[in-house]
Amino acid sequence: MLQTISDLGYLKYYDKKILMRVDFNVSLSNGVIGEDYRIRMTIPTIEYLIKSGAKLILMSHLGRPTHPDSNYSLKPVAKRLSEIIPIHKVRFATDCVGSDVRKTIDEMQMGDITLLENLRFHKEEETNDPEFSKQLASLAEIYVNDTFSTAHRRHASTYGAAKLFDIRVAGLNVKREVEYLSMIRENPVKPFTFVIGGVKIKDKIGALENLLPKADKVLIGGAAAYTFLKAKGMKTGNSPIDNEYLPWITKALSRYREKILLPLDHLVLPYSISAVDSSSSSSLSASLVKADIPEGMIGYDIGAETMQQYSTEISRNKDGTIFWNGPMGLFEIGLFANGTINIAKSMALAFWRGSKTLIGGGDTLESMKRAGVSEREVSHVSTGGGATLRFLAGDEMPGIDILDKD
Ligand code: ADP
Ligand code: 3PG
Ligand code: MG
Repeated sequence: MLQTISDLGYLKYYDKKILMRVDFNVSLSNGVIGEDYRIRMTIPTIEYLIKSGAKLILMSHLGRPTHPDSNYSLKPVAKRLSEIIPIHKVRFATDCVGSDVRKTIDEMQMGDITLLENLRFHKEEETNDPEFSKQLASLAEIYVNDTFSTAHRRHASTYGAAKLFDIRVAGLNVKREVEYLSMIRENPVKPFTFVIGGVKIKDKIGALENLLPKADKVLIGGAAAYTFLKAKGMKTGNSPIDNEYLPWITKALSRYREKILLPLDHLVLPYSISAVDSSSSSSLSASLVKADIPEGMIGYDIGAETMQQYSTEISRNKDGTIFWNGPMGLFEIGLFANGTINIAKSMALAFWRGSKTLIGGGDTLESMKRAGVSEREVSHVSTGGGATLRFLAGDEMPGIDILDKD
């Protein structure tokens, strides 16, 4: 069993420096933070440690820079954290290693919080450099990991530095994620419905492979659905197809024919568009086609009949589990958002009726918010995208594997 901060008890942290990996990789546009779910999810762990008398040093990445770049500074995140927990002082250190950081940390009092600058301003973070790991580890006495969403990365802050501590424990957010997602991976409460959409089959195939035998129903939508339809022998027009996965999908369709539901109708356009075209989308007019998609046409959302079928399936899930990853269509464009909105609302209804509902994926969370469904209408919203799918696929999770077990 994973050791978590509460297993060690309050006294362990009194007057101690704690180095905690968090994932404050939030959406940021011109210095303004969008969705801050990942920041809010770390509050229980932050408060637990602060109340225990710790000096808390937080470290995170933001985006994928490889050198210092002010567009990816975590400074706005330090400000947002101060706003969320105004009774605690949040300092910001302009680097994550070096003498200035050490000075800032030496001045910390019990109950203080310091957020270090973006770890990825040093390329040594992603290469899991031993010297960089050592420098990070030298900042504190205890290591805590409260990010599930980076646990699939073997980086200095998630792995190399963690290894150098005698005490390395999971935060409450990681504990919650691991408990919920292990339930789905090992033994989902039945009936189990898996709703999957989005674009890249490559990212989803591992989770699908692992969960198909356990699922009672798998509802497939989004751009990923066209490769399934093609494997079934349907015409998909000019919709995107991932040829590499056709053989695997063909086998899965014949083995699990009765479980897998594919779209029955589609909203299509005779040309290609993308999410960035949303400003000029008011003039768009899509056609509804049933079954085969004609040559030249591209599918952008599931149609009304599919929506009806999928929401009926979700409502049939009584007291079981429903996991959803991936929008049903190009939801960023209003015209193609209905399929996704319908799933989000059906999920909320299933939650109120007693099913355990879980969602994963950055875009899925965003689409759920757009549908007007709040986090409180879902049993568990995973902070992870890639990490959640890897965990469900049964892949290695270095950031969790390195933590203490009892
Ligand atoms: P998540 O981040 O939740 O894991 P993905 O990244 O897999 O989800 O997929 C989200 C993206 O998939 C969204 O940007 C959405 O517009 C896109 N998408 C879904 N269906 C389609 C489609 N039929 N055509 C084009 N894009 C689609
Ligand atoms: C995520 O957004 O999925 C995590 O923060 C990991 O980010 P990364 O894919 O850039 O490592
Ligand atoms: Mg995504």
